[in-house]
Amino acid sequence: MKRIEQTAGNITVGITGASGAVYARELIRWLADNGYHVDAIASETGKRVFEYETGIPLKSSSLTSKPHLLTLHDNDNLFSPLSSGSRRQGSVSRVVIVPCSMGTLGRIASASGSKLIERVADVALKERRRLVIVPRETPFNTLHLNNMLELSRAGAVILPAMPGFYQKPKTLGDIVSFMVSKILDALDIPNDLYERWSGKKA
Ligand SMILES: Cc1cc2nc3c(=O)[nH]c(=O)nc-3n(C[C@H](O)[C@H](O)[C@H](O)COP(=O)(O)O)c2cc1C
Repeated sequence: MKRIEQTAGNITVGITGASGAVYARELIRWLADNGYHVDAIASETGKRVFEYETGIPLKSSSLTSKPHLLTLHDNDNLFSPLSSGSRRQGSVSRVVIVPCSMGTLGRIASASGSKLIERVADVALKERRRLVIVPRETPFNTLHLNNMLELSRAGAVILPAMPGFYQKPKTLGDIVSFMVSKILDALDIPNDLYERWSGKKA
């Protein structure tokens, strides 16, 4: 009988060719460190931008000290178990696309994707499962904004890579932690990555 490893849960992380690869790197590190199994899928440009911006190769051993908790998937493999809505409830993933390019965002919004990242997002929407999209572009054109509105109406959480500064970040790491914490919150994953606002006096 196949042994099913107990983890804190399954999270699928899609990485596309928008700027902000560091968010994906730190999210994957945090999830694996905290016992979650991560299914990561990178688009072709996502992989290139990730390696360019972070300076590390997109492979399990560089991303986590627990590589057994990270599975990297081929974005061209539509035969992946991730691409079906018929997965058993216990093995179902929450999905986050971080960073999300305007290209991937548009293809998901029009349900016209042909890659695994887009299929996984489409499945999450049709099965009414959690889908968190972290778009990164500035400024947005009207098409970008319309696509985000469509996705929000379809049930996705639109969580732009838009860090706050009220927590008085001292390092780039503090800013990244803020965004990773927001993503974890949207995935309903308890975390304490930054000091939350508690109504301090101005
Ligand atoms: C260094 C670099 C940074 C980029 N940053 C962004 C970005 O922040 N947002 C965006 O929508 N596209 C950005 N792009 C363009 C996307 O990579 C491009 O549209 C690509 O086709 C997206 O493909 P994908 O959605 O399959 O990953 C960037 C490209 C490069 C090379």
